Amino acid sequence: MFISFEGIDGSGKSTQLVLLREWFEERGRSIVTIREPGATYLSEAIRDILLSNKQSITATAELLLFSAARTQLVETVIQTSLDRGDVVLCDRYVDSTTAYQGYGRQLTLESVEICNSLAARGVMPVLTFFIDVPYNEAQTRMQFETSQAKPDRIESSGPEFFERVRSGYLAIAAQEPSRFIVINGVQERDAIHREIVSIVERRL
Ligand code: ADP
Ligand code: TYD
Repeated sequence: MFISFEGIDGSGKSTQLVLLREWFEERGRSIVTIREPGATYLSEAIRDILLSNKQSITATAELLLFSAARTQLVETVIQTSLDRGDVVLCDRYVDSTTAYQGYGRQLTLESVEICNSLAARGVMPVLTFFIDVPYNEAQTRMQFETSQAKPDRIESSGPEFFERVRSGYLAIAAQEPSRFIVINGVQERDAIHREIVSIVERRL
């Protein structure tokens, strides 16, 4: 079973991924958790380049780099884990590219779709939870994080960018309502977790 989590930076999706991992572990399931971009040597190296503030990156180069990181991950980790019968929980996947590079950076949705299908190779989540919070709430949440001193290159993209990203996620939800589930992220962690679990239980 392949499940992904989506949301703007600071929405609380990684928190929910961890809670769902624990829920599956308590039920004896073998779990693989992955963050995107990342989880392979190549993908982590690409992540460092993409998030670094050292230089600007053009929108198309950004699209291609995220796609390269993803296809390495799909071929070497996700596909083999799913073949073994593991539950794969992914912190971001193709919908991030649609929302951030398509709607946020305003690249054509056609070019994003080509890259997404090339990178994902038909490997798609059965469920995607979009943790929906307003930009200001996400910003407030991130300010409480001590691990990161200053925003990375993408986090520095500004409120209008993140409003477009959020509207992109809502557009995906309108197109794929059975896979892409909108969760109100402005709730207590446990309330969100219970909502997610009830949806997962129905799909199992
Ligand atoms: P993301 O992975 O979407 O960037 P995180 O899960 O890392 O977000 O959460 C961002 C911050 O918000 C963290 O400090 C986390 O503890 C906090 N947080 C997560 N969920 C909630 C919630 N439901 N309400 C308030 N704060 C939350
Ligand atoms: P990360 O620190 O993992 O952000 P978060 O904790 O909010 O998930 O950084 C990943 C960043 O990369 C995040 O700003 C979203 C962005 N991103 C894209 O723009 N396109 C993509 O396809 C992916 C996977 C991520």
